[in-house]
Amino acid sequence: MTAHRFMPAGPLTGRIRVPGDKSISHRALMFGALAVGRSRIKGLLEGEDVLATAAALRAMGATIARDGDEWIVDGVGVGGLLQPSQALDMGNSGTSTRLLMGLLASHGITAAFTGDASLSQRPMGRVIDPLSTMGASFTPSPGGTLPLMMEGMQPAVPISYRLPVASAQVKSAVLLAGLNTPGITSVIEPVPTRDHTERMLRGFGAELTVEEENGERVIRIHGPADLKPCDIDVPGDPSSAAFFAVAASIVPESDLVIENVGLNPTRDGIFRVLEQMGAAIERLDQREVGGEPVADLRIRHAPLNGIEVDPGIAPSMIDEFPVLFVAAALAKGTTVTRGLEELRVKESDRLAAMASALRVAGARVEENEDGLTIEGSGGTPLAGGGIVATHLDHRIAMSMAVAGIASEAGVEIDSAEPIATSFPNFLDLLAEAAS
Ligand code: S3P
Repeated sequence: MTAHRFMPAGPLTGRIRVPGDKSISHRALMFGALAVGRSRIKGLLEGEDVLATAAALRAMGATIARDGDEWIVDGVGVGGLLQPSQALDMGNSGTSTRLLMGLLASHGITAAFTGDASLSQRPMGRVIDPLSTMGASFTPSPGGTLPLMMEGMQPAVPISYRLPVASAQVKSAVLLAGLNTPGITSVIEPVPTRDHTERMLRGFGAELTVEEENGERVIRIHGPADLKPCDIDVPGDPSSAAFFAVAASIVPESDLVIENVGLNPTRDGIFRVLEQMGAAIERLDQREVGGEPVADLRIRHAPLNGIEVDPGIAPSMIDEFPVLFVAAALAKGTTVTRGLEELRVKESDRLAAMASALRVAGARVEENEDGLTIEGSGGTPLAGGGIVATHLDHRIAMSMAVAGIASEAGVEIDSAEPIATSFPNFLDLLAEAAS
């Protein structure tokens, strides 16, 4: 593990571009691998999580290669994936694991899934349950975790599944299993989550409908689907932009433009909550890239105020709470968050990890069962000075980097390596923006 110290830094200025969206990058590779023919992807995130998806798809017969600044995927067709000869190593990536489990559930092949220490603690029962109903069988480790073996079923049985947790990964796993399942597979979503799977599958030519019924979203996919190849332009990841949006908001005199940020309404909650706190965010040149709303974000330093965050907004910023907690630690007054039980089963227990990391950095934090209550400093830099544990969690690492640059003595994280899972050039961009 390589520790890294983030020292107080000057204003963030200039123009930066964050890497491609992680969720869209995974899906671009997966759907390209299932199309018949050649798809081209621009702006693919070349982070470890996405590379784990690429390696798994290659191990099952797809051809995936980089060609200059594009990625080229030659697909095998829906139902055409081959049995991998070795365990599929998912690294740190929950999205790769759960979406690929869904894909394979309706293929007549057997596969083993392994992952790192963080991923091996995360619950897979949430996808095993619906996929078992469709006919796949699973042998997980105790507690429903990786490593696990699975045997797909062909033909699988279509189901109608109401999501018991607000999870785009579970929704996507069932829909992807539905791709190679004869009939209509449907998912009922009481609380909307990121909708990239729906948007992109339609773009690849799948027969997929989304309807609002009794206040719930009902998504139906008709299988078996024929996917046509697609050229995809991946917008910048709002989850990555969020670290810079918070950093520019809390470091005095900052004035930063982050170009090409995806602003899908199922993803942009962090920017809306920061604005409620008083952040100065302008959405410039609003446009569409790859079927997703995109803008350049101009963020200027502004004093933030503590707020009660509406739990209803959580699904649209589920990965951004760690960095929101940092903003709250620098705001004036108290910020209260609730309804965040899901944060305990991310790459780490993000409520516990951020409560203890922020305390080490000098913030006043109370940890509750389903959220944190943070007493802000009113803009005074945190004392800093300690070493914080990142628990193999990229977002804890980057959040505490942001805390470090807004501290007196700096903040040291025990390991900077996890950052490469989603944002390989984070350190370079931070140095560039804060120079
Ligand atoms: C993701 C869904 C979310 C999110 C993850 C990516 C996706 O997970 O936390 O980083 O690409 O579908 P959940 O579905 O478990 O909330």
